[in-house]
Amino acid sequence: MSSCPNHIAIIMDGNGRWAKNKGLKRTAGHEEGAKVVRDITKHCSLLGVKYLTLYAFSTENWTRPKLEVEFLMKLLERYFKSELPIYLENNIKFRAIGDISKFSKSLQKIIKDVEDKTSNMSGLTQILALNYGSRDEITRAVSKLVSSNQTINEENISLNLDTADFSDVDLLIRTSGEVRISNFLLWQCAYSEMFFSSTLWPDFNSNELDEIISDYSLRDRRFGGV
Ligand code: IPE
Ligand code: IPE
Ligand code: MG
Repeated sequence: MSSCPNHIAIIMDGNGRWAKNKGLKRTAGHEEGAKVVRDITKHCSLLGVKYLTLYAFSTENWTRPKLEVEFLMKLLERYFKSELPIYLENNIKFRAIGDISKFSKSLQKIIKDVEDKTSNMSGLTQILALNYGSRDEITRAVSKLVSSNQTINEENISLNLDTADFSDVDLLIRTSGEVRISNFLLWQCAYSEMFFSSTLWPDFNSNELDEIISDYSLRDRRFGGV
């Protein structure tokens, strides 16, 4: 696609409602949602998207019932174990953003390991936001600047965000019908095009993504100019 966005970010929402609609436990929705992550990542890789950032666990998601949080942590471990060969086969680099120091040592190790093993991949970079909150990220960035006595300016803040290596978000998508940002990439989405879909994340697919991208390609991005 000619005007394919360089960086797509997705708030993958609606797993719990998808499961509830089917009379299943919320965890079944997360399980199904993880499969869609793989499909959408492969599709973006084929389209030539450079960065795909997916919101997987927010700094606020710790407030969920303990069993759901535990399930999500285990699902992440399983996901990374099964995903490593897929990343390698598809030339996909994996990176995490967010404060993963709050995760178990074993999960942190798996995440670092997948980052290391895919670091030479040159195709799509899949970025998972894990214990990610934009306010937390900006606060950490500014603290780093203050403690190293650096000037507080836009460039230095950007360079100290978890996303320092990636370009700003071109297209932000949220599924499930909610029209809010929920503490995701506040800095990086300053000029992104936004698209809100009523589809619940486990039902999201590459055809819908293609439609959203073709809508995106028709938008006039002015960045404050005329
Ligand atoms: C998004 O789906 C996945 C995570 C936040 C981990 P939800 O679990 O928020 O699903 P709903 O919004 O309750 O339907
Ligand atoms: C945002 O979804 C976080 C993720 C998708 C990981 P939430 O379901 O947590 O957000 P709210 O509570 O609807 O704002
Ligand atoms: Mg939700």
